[in-house]
Amino acid sequence: MKILVTGGCGFIGSHFLRYMMNAYPDDSFICLDALTYAGNKNNIVDFLHRSRFTMAEGNIRDTVFVDALFATYKPDIVVHFAAETHVDRSITGPQVFLETNVIGTGILLDACLRYGIERFHHVSTDEVYGTLPLQGGSPFTEQSPLHPTSPYAASKASSDLLVLSYYKTYGLPVTISRCSNNYGTHQYPEKLIPLMIQKALQGKPLPVYGDGLNVRDWIHVVDHCKAIDFTLQRGTVGDVYNVGAGEEIPNIKLIKQILDALGKPYELITYVPDRLGHDLRYAIDSSKLESLGWKPEYTMKDTLKGIVEWYRKRL
Ligand SMILES: NC(=O)c1ccc[n+]([C@@H]2O[C@H](COP(=O)([O-])OP(=O)(O)OC[C@H]3O[C@@H](n4cnc5c(N)ncnc54)[C@H](O)[C@@H]3O)[C@@H](O)[C@H]2O)c1
Repeated sequence: MKILVTGGCGFIGSHFLRYMMNAYPDDSFICLDALTYAGNKNNIVDFLHRSRFTMAEGNIRDTVFVDALFATYKPDIVVHFAAETHVDRSITGPQVFLETNVIGTGILLDACLRYGIERFHHVSTDEVYGTLPLQGGSPFTEQSPLHPTSPYAASKASSDLLVLSYYKTYGLPVTISRCSNNYGTHQYPEKLIPLMIQKALQGKPLPVYGDGLNVRDWIHVVDHCKAIDFTLQRGTVGDVYNVGAGEEIPNIKLIKQILDALGKPYELITYVPDRLGHDLRYAIDSSKLESLGWKPEYTMKDTLKGIVEWYRKRL
């Protein structure tokens, strides 16, 4: 089996490749990545030079490059992570989010149609559902309406709809997973956890949006990777699967846990004006995937300290 992974030099894509390389020793893997500011070959250095791994540096928005890649490698499965992913950047510069997340996804879908792949798995986010109130409100199910609020979330919702349209219109065998916030090693230090660790290590103020009470639902990155693999094996073509671990934590509580792990004072916490359109709360119901047999294995309580240590040695 040949598996093409887009965005494999980023945070989750690199974990997914590592997990799959170990889990499927007879399969070969191609990583398509543009190496934007968020992509880093060091994230995959432990298997970059293995014979059944190929690094293909290029852009999913480049139709000619994507076509040549499919013609050369003829992948059986495509797992699509490549995206612009930082909400704050989408607020200050939304255009590239539309180009990569929507147009780039469309270019990949066209190539999949032309070359007749077995499965296109689209990695999406719970942010497509928008926000829940801080108190009350049931976790999002796959039936919840799409109400994205940031340009990032809107671009991901658009790509979800495009993917589903290729299933309905052309019969392209697709699946979609919508996952909650991931935590783990190898994340670019603009995202909440590595950013707070970096600032704390530098003894600089930790910028906390608004009152810090916004709630996010967290999952260990390896549990997300296993859920995608599980969806490839057990998911129904044309279906969407929510992925989460039910660990809802207010941002301020998580930041205090990080400071505790680093032995740094809470006085570093500095409240800053709230993010525009800041979603209050995400909570995801993953009972559909769990009913098939998947379940998360890791908890923040057991793993956060080790993750903080990993960043402490590198930031
Ligand atoms: N991080 C999370 O908590 C989270 C949660 C749910 C879903 N997701 C989704 O998972 C996917 C991966 O997220 P991440 O946090 O690992 O992102 P990331 O920003 O760490 O990595 C994105 C990767 O995509 C590559 N890339 C960007 N634009 C590209 C382009 N035009 N062509 C080719 N490669 C390009 C980058 O170089 C990088 O390696 C995204 O689709 C994101 O929406 C992320």
